[in-house]
Amino acid sequence: MWLSYLRFLLKSQNEHGLHSPFVYELVTRCFYNKTKYPEYEVLEAYRKELLEDNRKIEVNDFGAGSRVFKSKEREVAAIAKNVGIPRKRAKFLFRLAKYLDCRNILELGTSLGIGTTALALNKTAQITSIEGCPQTAEVAQNQLKKFGFVNVNLVIGEFEKVLGDIVESKNNVGSGEQVESGEWKVERKPQTQNHKQQTTFDLIYFDGHHTKEATLKYFELLLPTAHNDSVFVLDDIHWSAGMEEAWEIIKKHPMVRVSIDTFHLGLIFFRKEQVKQDFIIRL
Ligand SMILES: C[S@@+](CC[C@H](N)C(=O)[O-])C[C@H]1O[C@@H](n2cnc3c(N)ncnc32)[C@H](O)[C@@H]1O
Repeated sequence: MWLSYLRFLLKSQNEHGLHSPFVYELVTRCFYNKTKYPEYEVLEAYRKELLEDNRKIEVNDFGAGSRVFKSKEREVAAIAKNVGIPRKRAKFLFRLAKYLDCRNILELGTSLGIGTTALALNKTAQITSIEGCPQTAEVAQNQLKKFGFVNVNLVIGEFEKVLGDIVESKNNVGSGEQVESGEWKVERKPQTQNHKQQTTFDLIYFDGHHTKEATLKYFELLLPTAHNDSVFVLDDIHWSAGMEEAWEIIKKHPMVRVSIDTFHLGLIFFRKEQVKQDFIIRL
């Protein structure tokens, strides 16, 4: 990761020299917005309580597994410290959802709900968050309730299963298929007569199951839920060689117009009016 970070630093830029008005506005008004929002205090209080919680829970490991934990029995405080979204990224997530006025949001991977909180602090937003581990989800559920969040629907289950209920039949709304070379072959399939309206999301935060295969699978599965102004936010795009490969493939998808690599987070936009362009920008 250090090598990747070095490469990122060498290639990355700030707001100077950004010719896309959309990206320039996003970077200057959201990325580099220094306002001390009162919501940040709630975010901090939520995290602090978890960091002081010495209860131990039995965690069912989903996804790519942990590089930190060796046993299934884990302290809530340790999960908050090692798995929860770090402060800077959480604040950014809050600002991004606020700046883009995201109303319908999906999060893959709730864990203890720190990222969920960042999104849900935007009171006009409705969040659906999916977590596979019931014990972890229970802690998150109680904590979200304690902090008075009424705009979060926490769904316990394996991503693919839960997404099957959210996304209209893959066979009806085909978005594309990846071929071996890492190129995409897009084929939009005709809709069947009993086709129901597809749910769309303004923002999807992909933060679980950090493997190349899973990331590409969920990306493709969720493409039909994107509209022109949606943003997909992918966590840990440089976490492993596989995640970097997935990011490179996703950037090339024909529906993707703008990608922004901020090192830890990758942002994907679908705005048809935009020239296809990839950016590497420091947060
Ligand atoms: C990195 S953590 C999420 C952190 C959280 N989004 C935050 O901002 O604090 C990833 C979570 O995703 C869950 N997860 C990973 N793969 C999953 C899968 N395939 N189905 C359901 N949950 C999964 C894990 O159990 C874990 O709690």
